Amino acid sequence: MVFTKFEKRIASAMPQIDTNVLYRKGFVDAPVPKDINLADEIIRLKKEKNAVLLAHYYQEDAIQDLADFLGDSLYLAKAAATVDADVIVFAGVHFMAETAKIINPTKKVLLPDLNAGCSLADSCPPNDFAAFRAQHPNAIVVTYINCSAEIKALSDIVCTSSNAVKIIESIPKDQPIIFAPDKNLGRYLIKETGRDMILWDGSCIVHEAFSFDKIVTLAQQHPDAKFIAHPESESQVLDIAHYIGSTSGLLNFVQQDNAQTFIVATEAGILHEMKKRAPQKTFIPAPVSDDTCACSECAFMKLNTLEKLYLCLVHELPEIELDAALIKAAKSPIDRMLELS
Ligand code: 13P
Ligand code: SF4
Repeated sequence: MVFTKFEKRIASAMPQIDTNVLYRKGFVDAPVPKDINLADEIIRLKKEKNAVLLAHYYQEDAIQDLADFLGDSLYLAKAAATVDADVIVFAGVHFMAETAKIINPTKKVLLPDLNAGCSLADSCPPNDFAAFRAQHPNAIVVTYINCSAEIKALSDIVCTSSNAVKIIESIPKDQPIIFAPDKNLGRYLIKETGRDMILWDGSCIVHEAFSFDKIVTLAQQHPDAKFIAHPESESQVLDIAHYIGSTSGLLNFVQQDNAQTFIVATEAGILHEMKKRAPQKTFIPAPVSDDTCACSECAFMKLNTLEKLYLCLVHELPEIELDAALIKAAKSPIDRMLELS
């Protein structure tokens, strides 16, 4: 079996994940017929199975182009809530597909590669988080949507990077707040809202890979460029950004701002939609510390491929399955977020 460079990177970055497991389960090994046009087949199968494709901006370009709903975490969660089709195929990572299942549990929710996890979600194990929460019994728990269903079930309100400031500001000023799992987003929110929050020590390997020094050098080489960043980036990177926002925030900014060149510190997949929305502008991915890796690509997101998307529609696998009690417990903090959004 030949693994892609992304699968090898995940295996070396997170040795606890055995990338062979899914393949041994069989269906991923099912042959993709030669001489078919994968895009045409995916479109045909979506229709035949009454399925819709939800895709995040970090997916590979060809998958983004096939999506019925393309967007950031909040948009996709809202789309999942209102989907009428029988099947939701989620081209994103596990916590996103899991969130779709929690929001709309009667639908069959498929994820092309079950191994498409998230380093940030993995940085918050439920048992450790339950103990952390118990140390601060008076605190309200706000969790970033990039976490497992078990962590959502331990939360009071969920947020995304699009609505986090609004969610925090909706909480009474004298109320202590735990924010998890992303310490970088948490620090950014403390600055933005002036709230003193108790932070869980988690982070995203993609957004922590950006090199402050190289960004400064690149910005000096492009004095007219604006530097824009996702709030999962480290504080010193955010401190020099002209604009900080979620993936949809970054997209809106590059369309509306007068600058012609942008240095972009988030997962490189977003450049596809940026080029579509502002074809006359120039987008430069922010440099990462390690020159030997494609670290500005999320290896988890890139586990989904057109082949796996095709097989997933053919076999209606892998499916996200969740215990009914877990769905119930994880749904109420998501519902609170959707009410406030
Ligand atoms: P958005 O909510 O901005 O889409 O971010 C999702 C994500 O995973 C960032 O790493
Ligand atoms: Fe998770 Fe980071 Fe990938 Fe987003 S970019 S899915 S936070 S690992």
